[in-house]
Amino acid sequence: MIIAPSLLASDFGRFAHEATRADRSGAEWLHLDIMDGQFVPNISFGPAVVEAVRPHFSRYCDVHLMCEKPEILLQPFVKAGADGMTIHVELGAQVTPLLWKIRSLGRRVGLGVNPPTNINEVRPYLSQIDVLLIMTVNPGFGGQSFIHECVPKIQQAAAWRRELGLKYHIEVDGGINLETACECARAGADVFVSGTALFHQRNLGAAVRKMRAAVHNAHTESLFQL
Ligand code: DX5
Ligand code: ZN
Repeated sequence: MIIAPSLLASDFGRFAHEATRADRSGAEWLHLDIMDGQFVPNISFGPAVVEAVRPHFSRYCDVHLMCEKPEILLQPFVKAGADGMTIHVELGAQVTPLLWKIRSLGRRVGLGVNPPTNINEVRPYLSQIDVLLIMTVNPGFGGQSFIHECVPKIQQAAAWRRELGLKYHIEVDGGINLETACECARAGADVFVSGTALFHQRNLGAAVRKMRAAVHNAHTESLFQL
């Protein structure tokens, strides 16, 4: 299980300090939301910011590209220190070449799906990816409420993973707090992106540990219920 604090909910005036807090919290991944003002109605930060924070986080940097034209950004994010990059299935015909490009750059390959998009859209790509990112809010802004209707998508993704003998992570992103993280864990998620519920806590390390313990318990309980 992986906890991934999202830098989008951090203090934008102190990126290096916030990345250091995330590093000391023991979180396995740092989640970096890249918004281009086209694919989503907001702009966040780009490769230069990721490059600047990279030395302050010692583990996996998870770059989530909510962008209309990710192909122009892949190489710059590799240079900036991304370990994995996620593009969205809503990009249609661009998806296959983008997944190949990320793989050819030697980075972990992620595919995201927005709440209104049918989960069947990701089915053809499952054998090509390392991470399936299931959005649990409409992307663009932190601090939104979790959309419970997305939970069956997690269950479907977990069922496919079992049936096909694949190993992709199931990552959830949006409105993840202690309670919704547990709901997602019971459905089969194993990577928990959380912005507001983690970064807005004074003690980020304690918040990460609490979320990890809650998710662990929820997961164990769900195994006993099988
Ligand atoms: C939403 C982003 C999320 C966001 C989650 O567009 O993809 O990663 O940071 O933030 P919270 O946890 O505040 O919903
Ligand atoms: Zn994200």
